[in-house]
Amino acid sequence: MQDVTDLPFMRVMETFGGPDYYVTEYFRVYENSPINKYILRSITENQTGKPVFAQMIGQDVESLVKTAQQLMEHPVAGIDINLGCPAPVVCRKDAGGGLLRKPEKVKAILGRLRDSVQGRFTVKTRIGYETEEEFDALLEIFKSFEIDALAIHGRTVKERYQTPVHPERIKQAVEVMHCPVIANGNVVDVETGRAYLEQTGAAGLMIGRGAIRSPWIFEQLKASCEGREVKQILRRDLHGYIRLLFEAIAQERTRYEERRHVNKMKKYLVYIAQGLDAEFEYQIRRVQSAQDFHTVCDAFLLSEQLLPQRPSETSKLFCGFNALLG
Ligand SMILES: Cc1cc2nc3c(=O)[nH]c(=O)nc-3n(C[C@H](O)[C@H](O)[C@H](O)COP(=O)(O)O)c2cc1C
Repeated sequence: MQDVTDLPFMRVMETFGGPDYYVTEYFRVYENSPINKYILRSITENQTGKPVFAQMIGQDVESLVKTAQQLMEHPVAGIDINLGCPAPVVCRKDAGGGLLRKPEKVKAILGRLRDSVQGRFTVKTRIGYETEEEFDALLEIFKSFEIDALAIHGRTVKERYQTPVHPERIKQAVEVMHCPVIANGNVVDVETGRAYLEQTGAAGLMIGRGAIRSPWIFEQLKASCEGREVKQILRRDLHGYIRLLFEAIAQERTRYEERRHVNKMKKYLVYIAQGLDAEFEYQIRRVQSAQDFHTVCDAFLLSEQLLPQRPSETSKLFCGFNALLG
């Protein structure tokens, strides 16, 4: 995820068990685009011990092929193409989710990338641009290329992040695709993750915002699927996670700038604070110094109280996850 799943974030996730695979933030690809050096570090300096896929976003076929080849010179687990980003500035250029309106272009991109990527080539998509009915035709396209995995965020581009997901569309993909299908969107805890797997038959889950909020989610899901006890998380544990993230990000900076550091932490805290006291979020949004940041975290999180399992139902950032629970 942009500005989120970078090297320090991956390192911190791994201390809690982490996922089986990581995916980089997307590399923007256009004519003569350079490889973003900061994002590249999450490949070249990946110390998680887990494979990392390099994700690209763009619509210029030859540039995508060239960038894929450059990325393959590094220790990537595979190359992934983004067909899901809903940002208007991306879609206007017919990249990301915008590409879903251009089936011929999608075919050209998948065909050329499949031919030129020696190792694993994977696709991240949504279920349509305007409506979910578009997914039938999109699936025919995905099926016609030998891709190695299809990760599906179960919403249309128009639905952005604001609706429940559509598990039945992912199930449809599971039934026709010859590769593993990964379900994505709205997994916020063990119950939502297991429900999504059950309703779709997907080979696995991709977890984004839920992992920012709770890095324990990967290990908890594994424990639950393996019939082991699921660890309960306390406010004090969350405090420890925030501390770790704070330090990992500080270590990354060649020139330490407190204000930038605190602002970056606030981006994570927006997700982390969901489901906790409204006052905690209010105060965190207003802190300006590292010291104030820690003071607010200490005041609200240094306790043995259990953390709520899920964000609040009225959360503006996590929408519609309860629909997965039936
Ligand atoms: C801040 C932010 C940045 C994101 N950046 C990317 C990205 O670079 N590539 C991508 O495939 N998806 C990106 N996404 C989408 C997520 O990967 C995911 O599909 C979406 O958030 C739904 O899954 P979740 O409910 O588990 O978060 C981003 C989402 C957010 C909120």
